[in-house]
Amino acid sequence: MTLPAHPSTPFGDPAPSAGPVAILRGIGTVRRLIGLYPHGHPLVEERLRVLHETVQAQLRRQSAVSIDIIQGEVTVDGASGALDLETGGQVIEDLLALGVQSIQLGEGVDHEELRALAQLLWDMQYHPVEGTVGAQLAVRGIRHVRLSRLVPLDTRQVVPEWPDAPSGVLDPDYAESIMMSKATFDEIAAGGELRASTVRDFVQLLMYKVSRSNAVLSQILAVKNYDNQTWLHSVNVAMLSLLLGRQIGLREELLGALVEAALLHDIGKSHVPLDILRKPGTLDDRERRVVEGHPAQGAEFLLRTPGLHPLTPRLALEHHRTVRGGGYPNLGDGVIPHPMSQLLSVADIYEAVTGVRTYRKPAPPEQACLLLARLAGDTLNAALVKTFVNAITFFPLGSLVRTSDERLGVVVRITEGDLLHPVIVPVNDRFERAGDEIDTSTRDGRGAYRLHIVESVPPPVETLDVGTFLADRAA
Ligand SMILES: [Fe+2]
Repeated sequence: MTLPAHPSTPFGDPAPSAGPVAILRGIGTVRRLIGLYPHGHPLVEERLRVLHETVQAQLRRQSAVSIDIIQGEVTVDGASGALDLETGGQVIEDLLALGVQSIQLGEGVDHEELRALAQLLWDMQYHPVEGTVGAQLAVRGIRHVRLSRLVPLDTRQVVPEWPDAPSGVLDPDYAESIMMSKATFDEIAAGGELRASTVRDFVQLLMYKVSRSNAVLSQILAVKNYDNQTWLHSVNVAMLSLLLGRQIGLREELLGALVEAALLHDIGKSHVPLDILRKPGTLDDRERRVVEGHPAQGAEFLLRTPGLHPLTPRLALEHHRTVRGGGYPNLGDGVIPHPMSQLLSVADIYEAVTGVRTYRKPAPPEQACLLLARLAGDTLNAALVKTFVNAITFFPLGSLVRTSDERLGVVVRITEGDLLHPVIVPVNDRFERAGDEIDTSTRDGRGAYRLHIVESVPPPVETLDVGTFLADRAA
């Protein structure tokens, strides 16, 4: 069965997915033609021109197009069913064989970028990507397209390693804590027991070693383009909770309890069946009830574990409750979560939205902060959100940003009172230092900023060793 080029709705309008489907097909076609014909061949040029027009037409309707291939089906901006392996023909198979499951095109993508993209996708067939995919795109001048591999979140499934995964520059203590977390979750999923002494060692490691590293913190805060499973999420939430806890001056004993609870808050997910955790799209009522059971299941499990801090089960139970007494589980009208649960919720939501989800791109830190601000008051404790956002800033230390004059830079210093205009070190396409520090908060004679930070850029973590930029500032 072949889909018409522009499938229509019963009312005659083109289906919303028609443009993206044509783009996907166009990319597949140009890729193959580039591999078959010499440079500049009229057939290549003609198809490239059509592809470029289709992309431009789509980008006039929306600022970005996101095409994902999930379980053999093409999903456009989160809606599935646009095309599948049977109807989509070669292009889906080709992309999956290359390990590309998601293509995002943003405003500004031009003709030559599309040519370079098709060429890269052709080359990838014969030369596996060296370094990160992000770096490959950058080297070829492709600045408005992202390729990624989608990974379901909150599963214990081990996803084959994608070059964007942070393997090279991890702080050894952070790497150890991630392994400890994984081992703990695996053991509990296999029916094992949790040992309070292991948890205590873990808490110590995070509080007194990992949290000292600015480079680790920047990795946790920045956009995560890699698989972010429950055990990694838990370590990161623990670190962010610690940051916020220190910021509001919690005493040491409570900080320890907070880190312990944050590490274990999602432990109930060990009991949620994988097919539900991995399920793409909306959950039905039964499935949602199962997922929403994880706080209570976790709390029960933690109550049965001797030696933990008495607050730990309570925080696990309450971490999806809102500050006005809503959320789940239903604990009765007007029951407000413990202040430490409210703190954990802020860190949990921030970490969740900056991580990869099956159907959603990770949000850059500045967008995650805006989301927190929207949730402040009804869902989250407004004072805690304010403190958190002030503590982490929109553009965290070590994050990679793009400036209004189209330069890339690494944030090395926050400007007091002006979180949107940090000091950066410019970097080149290979993410090497490319000049002296730039203070983006300086203004011209008329009082206008000379430069703005336009956006955070997902860090090519293997290439960008933020530690080298921050070494002289490490605590
Ligand atoms: Fe949770």
